[in-house]
Amino acid sequence: MVSDSQPTHERRGFLRLMATGVLSIPFIAPIVAVARTLLPGEGSGKKPRPALPLREIPEGEPVSYRLRYEDIQGPYRLEVERLVFLRRTGDDVLALSAECTHAGCNVSWSGDKKSFVCPCHEGFFDLDGKPTGGPPQNPLRRFDVRTNGDDDNVLIEV
Ligand code: FES
Repeated sequence: MVSDSQPTHERRGFLRLMATGVLSIPFIAPIVAVARTLLPGEGSGKKPRPALPLREIPEGEPVSYRLRYEDIQGPYRLEVERLVFLRRTGDDVLALSAECTHAGCNVSWSGDKKSFVCPCHEGFFDLDGKPTGGPPQNPLRRFDVRTNGDDDNVLIEV
C-alpha cells in the first residue's frame, strides 16, 4: 500500500533544498564577485586600444592624446580616460603615459625646453620619458604600441 506521506516527504525535501539555495544566494554572490576580480579574464591584462591613424601623428614632437575606453573589472564596467603622449619616428610610435611618476600629476610637453614638465613639483623628463630633474626618480610609463594593418590605426596596449 502506498501512503500519502511519501509525496509530502518528497515535497518537504524539495522545499528545503529550494530554501537552502535561495537563502545562500546573498552569501555566494559577493564571493563570486571577488573571485571574478582575482581570476584572469575580461578586464584583466592589457588590451589593444585604438588611438590615432599613424599618418595623423606628426613626426618628431610628442602630441597628447586622450585615450578613452571601457574596462571591465569584475562586476564593474568602467569608463577610463588616460592622457598619453605619442611620438612618431618613421613607422615607429612611442607612447608614454602623461602621469608623473612622482605623485601622479599630468605632465605636459614643453617644446621650448624639449622636456616633459610636471607642474606640481617641477619635475622634468626627457623626450624618451627619463627623469632629468626635480623629484621624479622613475621614467614615464611606456605602453606597447602596434598598428592595425587595415586602417593603419595605432593601437596602444593598456
Ligand atoms: S607629481 Fe610630478 S613632480 Fe611631483
